[in-house]
Amino acid sequence: MGDNFVKKKLLVYYSSREILYLYWLIPGMDYQSFLSQRLQQLKHSGAYRYFLEVNKSAQHFPNFYYTDEEGQQRAAVNWCSNDYLSMSTNEEVISKLGFVTHRSGTGSGGTRNISGTTNHHKELERTLAAWHSKEAALLFNGAYQANVTTLQTLGKNIPGLVFFSDERNHASIIEGIRGCKNEKKIFKHNDVGHLEELLQTVPCDKPKLIVFESVYSMSGTISPVKAIAALAKRYNALTYVDEVHGVGLYGETGAGVLEQEHQQDSIDIVNGTLSKAVGVFGGYIAASATVVDFIRSFGSGFIFTTSLPPAICAAANRSIQFIQQNDKVRKHFFENVNQLRAVFNNNGINFRQNDSHITIIPMEDAIRCRQIASQLLEKHGIYLQPINYPTVPVGEECLRIIITARHLPKHINHLAYSLKKILHGEHKTDWQEFPAVAIAD
Ligand SMILES: Cc1ncc(COP(=O)(O)O)c(C=O)c1O
Repeated sequence: MGDNFVKKKLLVYYSSREILYLYWLIPGMDYQSFLSQRLQQLKHSGAYRYFLEVNKSAQHFPNFYYTDEEGQQRAAVNWCSNDYLSMSTNEEVISKLGFVTHRSGTGSGGTRNISGTTNHHKELERTLAAWHSKEAALLFNGAYQANVTTLQTLGKNIPGLVFFSDERNHASIIEGIRGCKNEKKIFKHNDVGHLEELLQTVPCDKPKLIVFESVYSMSGTISPVKAIAALAKRYNALTYVDEVHGVGLYGETGAGVLEQEHQQDSIDIVNGTLSKAVGVFGGYIAASATVVDFIRSFGSGFIFTTSLPPAICAAANRSIQFIQQNDKVRKHFFENVNQLRAVFNNNGINFRQNDSHITIIPMEDAIRCRQIASQLLEKHGIYLQPINYPTVPVGEECLRIIITARHLPKHINHLAYSLKKILHGEHKTDWQEFPAVAIAD
């Protein structure tokens, strides 16, 4: 029938007992069949997303239970959570959330402008500003929303602003830049030479904004922040850095890669999340008081939405204080990353070399990627979500391994053993170290 005709059914009674159905075709889109055809195509490509229903346990993390397709409850180990420091399970953070919820209630009940700004919002914004060495910070309901709103607001309001964006930037950055229809130039990933070439194509007096990430979560690469900041200065460009995967982990107090590289002063706007290493929920930007006041005053995605619950702000604040005061937890996290990579090296498991905490095993094919992830879950109790298009370009499908502060040596050994068995078809007898068993203990 195609997409342009819709089958309609008419019910006609032609006697007291009998019914006649009349069918006819009318022009117009059959919405349901159009959408289901697109879903079928996605399934055939191997990129359709199946969600695993994780029964998350603060006590047993990274172990969890799930129910398989036969309805059996099974145990598995989570190897793909962004709860890097396991702060979502931290007793002090949980207590703070409970305590403030009892005092302030669950939701904030309003936008920031209409009764939704509490002392907890303001305290958290002060903490964030100080952490990033900026004059001010502004909370959003997620870093996605912070990216879209800030970039669009700047694009729409600074006449002739040209965006310079790394080709590997996150979907929220792309969405933000697309939404305001300004001129944009895409530079090759982390390629400072190419960025400079593009900067030279734009007249000196045109306003410019360079947008990039500090840690690219799907490749694990870290950006040359210092070199980009120097270029920005030379070409009088503003700079915007998404530190979503850097915040909480890098730098002396965990403020991110900019702190580690002593570049906090040379970057104009920092974007961060409270949902990954901080382990709670929400996003933010930190910048000069003027930039923050501008986004607060003109940013639709900030103005017209209910603010974060007060208890979430208080819990995030507690989590950040804990991270600032306990560099032990960050050191332990990176020791875990190094140990994971050492065990992989000892067992011939190939992964992409990078300087971050994200370990990538290339699969380069969506269907293979999904099959290997399924086998890991079903046969070995290892949960690794396959990373397929559009999260990564076609051909760069991968298993993205995230170790957290709560993974133990037995978890690492079990992961390496299972990967080796599935990827290389090798047997237990080849194993160098003890194969630990994944159990929800
Ligand atoms: C680089 C990057 N920026 C922004 C976001 C959005 O963050 P949030 O989950 O806080 O909305 C994500 C992922 O979730 C991300 O990976």
